[in-house]
Amino acid sequence: MKDFASALLARRAKSLYRRRLVLEGPTAPESSLDGRTVLQFCSNDYLGLANHPRVVEAFAAAARHYGVGAGASHLVTGHRTAHHALEEELAVLVDRPRALLFSSGYMANLGVVGALFGRHDQVYEDRLNHASLLDAARYAGVPLTRYTHADPAALEACLMRTKHKHGDQLVISDGVFSMEGDLAPLSGLASVAQRHGAWLMVDDAHGIGVLGEGRGTLAHCGLGIREVPILVGTLGKALGTAGAFVAGDETLIETLIQEARTYVFTTATPPAVAEATRVALRVSAEESWRREHLHVLVTHLRTELAALGLPLLPSITPIQPLIVGTAAKALAVSEALLARDILVTAIRPPTVPEGTARLRITLTAAHTLAQVDRLIEALAQIDACSL
Ligand SMILES: Cc1ncc(COP(=O)(O)O)c(C=O)c1O
Repeated sequence: MKDFASALLARRAKSLYRRRLVLEGPTAPESSLDGRTVLQFCSNDYLGLANHPRVVEAFAAAARHYGVGAGASHLVTGHRTAHHALEEELAVLVDRPRALLFSSGYMANLGVVGALFGRHDQVYEDRLNHASLLDAARYAGVPLTRYTHADPAALEACLMRTKHKHGDQLVISDGVFSMEGDLAPLSGLASVAQRHGAWLMVDDAHGIGVLGEGRGTLAHCGLGIREVPILVGTLGKALGTAGAFVAGDETLIETLIQEARTYVFTTATPPAVAEATRVALRVSAEESWRREHLHVLVTHLRTELAALGLPLLPSITPIQPLIVGTAAKALAVSEALLARDILVTAIRPPTVPEGTARLRITLTAAHTLAQVDRLIEALAQIDACSL
């Protein structure tokens, strides 16, 4: 019999025990935690839309119209006008013929890889890809090779080593790396993929809404469907709602509708979420000041922390990680911040590689410059040695 209790104790001893915080109130820079107000820098609500009055109202109005649950999967009776309209708008956003909604980014990634590739094919992934992308290859039973982070030459070497193999080759990368905040070298990856006749799939969970005037990392890099035929985006981060989409050509989307098990065998998301997302898309397009303000906050944080000798990983995105080292240190710094009513969660192995435990600081358009200054002051006050 497996001894789960001992495994939990061992995890606790290594400072790797995961715990949930119970927050009260809406997603916003200030939250209520155990009866006190904390200023948080951990959400992926980069544009500050999760609690935007227009988005909230769209959700409430749509719930009155559609009710709450979709009642069935998309292929039975769950697919409503709201879902359909959102798919069309997402396709326009990322300049592709079609888009298909999934209930989450995790399910989209599993669905795409499982539907299109199998054990005779080969997947190549950036070492630091999101867990859902690594799991997608594993669950689909596709042989997986991991290449050095953000290194097209390393990818090419891997492709060369396996070129004698039969089947299709699929390269997958995050657009913006979720725990690093840096961008994938997409032009380089696309050239390598093209040279080797490999598919390229980009998961732009953290780029949609933020980069390329809201259109994502591909727009930022000037790449389109020709270079990157499979694009995944999520809706629960910058767009502030929930769910995900895959965008591509007609054949890709029709194949997913037939074959993607995480699409076929699950209840459609509530139509009200789709309506709220449609309004979030509109707000994102109309209120470009949100991206400009984010940029100001990012630059300010980076300049001030560098002056304090606390270098952040290189990143132009709202994800600004401060590497601390061991899991225990990361927890200690996070707790020291919490003692000052500032919440930044510690990210530890196995989510990030051993020895690179970090504070994953995220900024949102809902933060003020004064709030970012509070974080900077708190980090300055904490004993630098503990960092
Ligand atoms: C790169 C990446 N892909 C996919 C996901 C999963 O998306 P979702 O939270 O919608 O399941 C995440 C976030 O958790 C992510 O960071």
